[in-house]
Amino acid sequence: MEDKVLIFDTTLRDGEQAPGASLSVAEKLEIARQLGVLGVDVIEAGFPVSSPAQFEATSRIAEQVQDATICGLARAHEADITSAGKALAPAKKRRIHTFIATSSIHMKHKLNKTPAEVLKMAVAAVKLAKTFTDDVEFSPEDACRSEMPFLIEILTAVIEAGATTLNIPDTVGYVLPYEYGQIIAQLAAGVPGIDKTVISTHCHNDLGQAVANSLAGVRNGARQVECSVNGLGERAGNAALEEVVMAIHTRPDFFGKGREKPLMTNIKTTQIYKTSQLVSRLTGFVIQPNKAVVGANAFAHESGVHVDGVLKERKTYEIMTPETIGLAGSRMVLGRHTGRHGFADRCKKLGYKLSKEEVETAYQRFTQVADKKKEVFDEDLVAIIDDEVRVVEHTFELEYMRVLIETGINPQATVKIKSKDGVKEAKAEGDGPVDAAYNAIREATGFSPNLESYSIRAVTSGKEALGEATVKIKTDGRTFVGRGISTDIIEASAKAYIDAINRMVGRPGKEERGLKAEL
Ligand code: KIV
Ligand code: ZN
Repeated sequence: MEDKVLIFDTTLRDGEQAPGASLSVAEKLEIARQLGVLGVDVIEAGFPVSSPAQFEATSRIAEQVQDATICGLARAHEADITSAGKALAPAKKRRIHTFIATSSIHMKHKLNKTPAEVLKMAVAAVKLAKTFTDDVEFSPEDACRSEMPFLIEILTAVIEAGATTLNIPDTVGYVLPYEYGQIIAQLAAGVPGIDKTVISTHCHNDLGQAVANSLAGVRNGARQVECSVNGLGERAGNAALEEVVMAIHTRPDFFGKGREKPLMTNIKTTQIYKTSQLVSRLTGFVIQPNKAVVGANAFAHESGVHVDGVLKERKTYEIMTPETIGLAGSRMVLGRHTGRHGFADRCKKLGYKLSKEEVETAYQRFTQVADKKKEVFDEDLVAIIDDEVRVVEHTFELEYMRVLIETGINPQATVKIKSKDGVKEAKAEGDGPVDAAYNAIREATGFSPNLESYSIRAVTSGKEALGEATVKIKTDGRTFVGRGISTDIIEASAKAYIDAINRMVGRPGKEERGLKAEL
């Protein structure tokens, strides 16, 4: 059996279904490019039939990202499959992923169909998908709550129809690792012709078992894992890509048991941290500090005994090194004496392909930061580049801001906001300094979207660290994420709010994920 475990990334499809994680077409393209650099085998780019924006994103990724197979999701309906086929047409390597629910509860209450009708639809869907590409994946949705004999029957039929990958979703994150492993083992042994296909896992995290279940699947014969960066996905999310990959990478003894060679993936692990940060920034989903592999504390040691142990021998408390995921190995420090050349070189080493103008814009910002902050770390650089060289049209720009705080008096803010109509000044009070600034921005821009969430984090440590604010605003059922960075956290907060308003103003007023509810 194959030594390679294929990594199928669904950050842009299932991941984007996470409540509040809405991405623009340009942002999806940016993430897809990075997924290509990371080395994922398959990128599920979207659900093309669900909206014009989803179609466009899938089609642009298919056109521009050549490192991986590009996949589009489709229900077992003619319109879905045709739409996916069209969106994927420009791809060098393309896959259609079609699905239909197979559990009694879904067939009866959601689809209102008999098992025979579902089987017929699945076969027809796979046959139609085959007219667009040889690479067809089939998923029996809610597989883990489906009757085993029916699962075997439908998988046998779709293999005959031409399916090349069989994905076994634990759609509601219900089963436990032992059970999931057994399901994969039973299918691997019981479905005729399955040895000619790739068995895939797709585990949700409702009981916190998504990664463990996926790995149990791999141990029992699965050779593709569907996962998402930072574990983004419906409800509690999907299996986290970085955790699955690092488990396979760190435990060759376990994943090599009884085999000639240990299992492996194609992932360039040194790109993991950068990918995780990018997805976090663009989706506005802040990574919890104790998140495995990519959390801020994942390699931090606090207790005296641990620090002492690590200083004597790293392996005492570290099972993997930060360098493996692209963290500390590249922790180079720049400062105010760093010239344009050194700056551009560092950006390149961090994986950015910037035009001359973009380097200049980012460099100007870097010199301002370096003036205030003695040492500029890679994490700061990433934040600066993302803040300056972003694809958002700047309808509004913060030109000036003053915030007064005095004991016993409500904070007061004055802002000057530049737009194509000139500069508008506004003053406002608030419960706190950020609230006052936001009230003034609302007045100056004429937009008052609801603030859904607000968070601030230090990009690096120290008194002069850059603060990065992330806000989510909501208007007409649409969510927009804005980010801002500054060594001043009130200014970072104001910039984040303006960034979110710019995204709102620049985005067409249509619900982009109209069929989300049906998934
Ligand atoms: O969780 C699920 O069942 C899915 C399918 C569409 C594969 O996301
Ligand atoms: Zn899913």
